Amino acid sequence: MAQTQVNVPDLGGIDEVEVIEICVQPGDELNAEDALIVLESDKATMEVPAPFAGKVKEILVAVGDKVNSGSHVANMVGVGEESSSVEAVVEDTAKQETPAPVEQATQPKPAAATDNQEIDIVVPDLGGIDSVEIIELSVSVGDTLDAEDSLLVLESDKATMEVPAPQAGKLVSFSVQVGDKVSQGDVVGKLLVAASAPVATPVESKPEASSPASAPSAKPEPVKAASTQTVSAQAPTSSGKVHAGPAVRKLARELGVDLSQVTGTGPRSRIQKHDLHDFVKQRVNNPVASPLTVKGSDEDFSKYGAITEQGLNKIKQVTARNMVASWTTIPQVTQFDEADITDLEHYRKTAMGALLPEGVKVSPLAFIAKACTKALKAFPEFNSSLGPNADTLILKQYYNIGIAVDTPDGLLVPVLKGADQKGVVELASESAELAKKARDKKLPMDAMSGASFTISSLGGIGGTAFTPIVNAPQVAILGVSKASYKPVWNGESFEPRLMLPLSLSYDHRVIDGAQAARFTRYLCELLTDVRHLLL
Ligand code: COA
Repeated sequence: MAQTQVNVPDLGGIDEVEVIEICVQPGDELNAEDALIVLESDKATMEVPAPFAGKVKEILVAVGDKVNSGSHVANMVGVGEESSSVEAVVEDTAKQETPAPVEQATQPKPAAATDNQEIDIVVPDLGGIDSVEIIELSVSVGDTLDAEDSLLVLESDKATMEVPAPQAGKLVSFSVQVGDKVSQGDVVGKLLVAASAPVATPVESKPEASSPASAPSAKPEPVKAASTQTVSAQAPTSSGKVHAGPAVRKLARELGVDLSQVTGTGPRSRIQKHDLHDFVKQRVNNPVASPLTVKGSDEDFSKYGAITEQGLNKIKQVTARNMVASWTTIPQVTQFDEADITDLEHYRKTAMGALLPEGVKVSPLAFIAKACTKALKAFPEFNSSLGPNADTLILKQYYNIGIAVDTPDGLLVPVLKGADQKGVVELASESAELAKKARDKKLPMDAMSGASFTISSLGGIGGTAFTPIVNAPQVAILGVSKASYKPVWNGESFEPRLMLPLSLSYDHRVIDGAQAARFTRYLCELLTDVRHLLL
């Protein structure tokens, strides 16, 4: 058995790249083309494949090492091979299949135009590969982008590369979709850029003359309509949302996993195969938290009339995912009831108001939150979560109440922690402070975690009832609508009473209808006679 040296292929003009993953161990038996190590520059990720089927003798580099073209990185043994260097074999592979680390493909020059202009986004130099597949469109039409934001991800057998925005602007259109094959110079979309910004114009890429992995120079397309210029998108960068090599991306596609949901534990948060496996295991065991793709409509509404399209911010996208996950995985039911809060409101507006310092406001919400902690203590299942396999119930001994807050960017749910330990005045001032922080975008992440029950109050806005969606992994949420005076029969006559509509949505796997009716009734009784809150 002859030992063969495996060297880094020609890197197409890049001085140094980092080893970010060792995919094999000495003794591993490999097929030809199996990845040995993964290298990364700030422009691309590439695998160094086994040049033939055989056994790994030794790996001579470690994660974090810097290597160059020709660096000796491993030894392999294969039957019938002469002891030799296989750099040439790897070079050939790289020449055919690895996108060259792309040089600067555009150069800014001052714009001559005076208005905003649309520019074409063009596939950059692919290092000699005929065509690569689009595996991800990373942004949506209408998104406002910074220069370098990743637009789409291309993949060959050996490498993944991102096509970043050549300059800041607004994405006008994509002319391609996931699964399409594209080649160097293909127009993949249009970007609206400010005319005052430097406009990138195509220049030939500059591969080193000696670089076998570099492609022939990009041939710039002719300038199109007056206000449209053709540019080559810049080289792939590491600025994209998902950091993963081709093998991991392939596995993710096979498993149907959205990589943006996976936390990478590799260098620079790179997603590795075991991260994917851990992710899948966790989702299988905890179906409530499963990521679901939020699907919209494919229909072209512009055929019916004028439309505009706008991007959804991160808060709205996360909310959409959580709502879809809750709605599709939890059998939920809503129980309605009404609390007579005539006396509570009288107390709040008169006696209590007179006792409070100037400027301190206590809305009905603080009383409702306090009453909820008491009801949760009386009905512990409402303050629980299902265990990982949905065959145990985790009963929480803490009473953290999430408060849904409507902000200009969407719904946020800060948490009143240890609400059972606090009085109504403290709960009122803390919820006002949290709501203000949420609206001012100053809410820290930990202020939104750990809720064991949620209240969503639309009482300040109006409406008679609604069906809130359970905030998984919690099992119940209380919706509060606007109180109004109603004629209530007291046994002898109708009396005007201030009635507060409550809507309790609950997870029917944990709570049954009778329990829900008892819980809401109890809550109503607590709110009807505020003295019960003292007990
Ligand atoms: N019935 C009648 N009036 C009510 C009421 C109710 N259920 N709840 C509040 N009000 C009154 C308040 O007393 C206040 O009036 P006042 O100034 O005369 O005292 C007014 O409505 C405004 O109250 P608001 O500022 O909304 O305070 P709040 O403490 O009731 O609510 C938030 C605070 C943060 C919950 C609320 O501002 C909010 O964002 N609600 C929206 C939540 C949401 O979007 N949920 C939907 C999720 S799907």
